[in-house]
Amino acid sequence: MPLDRLKVLLAREQIAEKVIELGARITSDFAGESVVLIGVLKGATIFLADLARAIKLDASFDFIAVSSYGNTKQQSGEVKLMKDVDHSMGGKNVILVEDILDTGLTLTYLKNILLGHQPKTVKIAALLDKVSRRTQPIQGDYIGFEIPDEFVVGYGLDFAERYRNLPDVCILETDGQ
Ligand code: IMP
Ligand code: MG
Repeated sequence: MPLDRLKVLLAREQIAEKVIELGARITSDFAGESVVLIGVLKGATIFLADLARAIKLDASFDFIAVSSYGNTKQQSGEVKLMKDVDHSMGGKNVILVEDILDTGLTLTYLKNILLGHQPKTVKIAALLDKVSRRTQPIQGDYIGFEIPDEFVVGYGLDFAERYRNLPDVCILETDGQ
């Protein structure tokens, strides 16, 4: 059993403040309209729960799931749809809610699927952005924090399904890596 070390990168208070700010921006950008928040399972669940309560609009939820890293820290380079949305997004204001934009493969893939529904708009909200890791030409519309190229866990993000329930975003250092 390796010993993992955790170092706080973003404290819960900082995250809470930022999420309120993002919610306020979404509220004003879509004033008078409805939005559908599509959470990318499972990492986005905690961010979605907080963000949704900071959005003062008529809002509904849907969820989508893609294949994950498995138990390693490396992205396999292949994205596979594991669960589609439950409803058509035709004519809707869709906000894809994700924990982190890394290479951009996942959100490029998901955005293309949703564009196939012919929504009114598709925007991307991501709590974290590892800009330096991007391989795809995709940007977030509502980004919480740009972070360095470190593997992070907490506030929904996992390593091998662990640590999602940490209230802070922490850098994970695994022994021997
Ligand atoms: P992308 O397709 O490379 O942009 O990867 C996005 C997905 O990789 C996210 O939804 C996360 O599940 C995962 N991911 C990327 N970086 C991290 C990290 O530092 N910690 C935990 N998961 C990560
Ligand atoms: Mg994820």
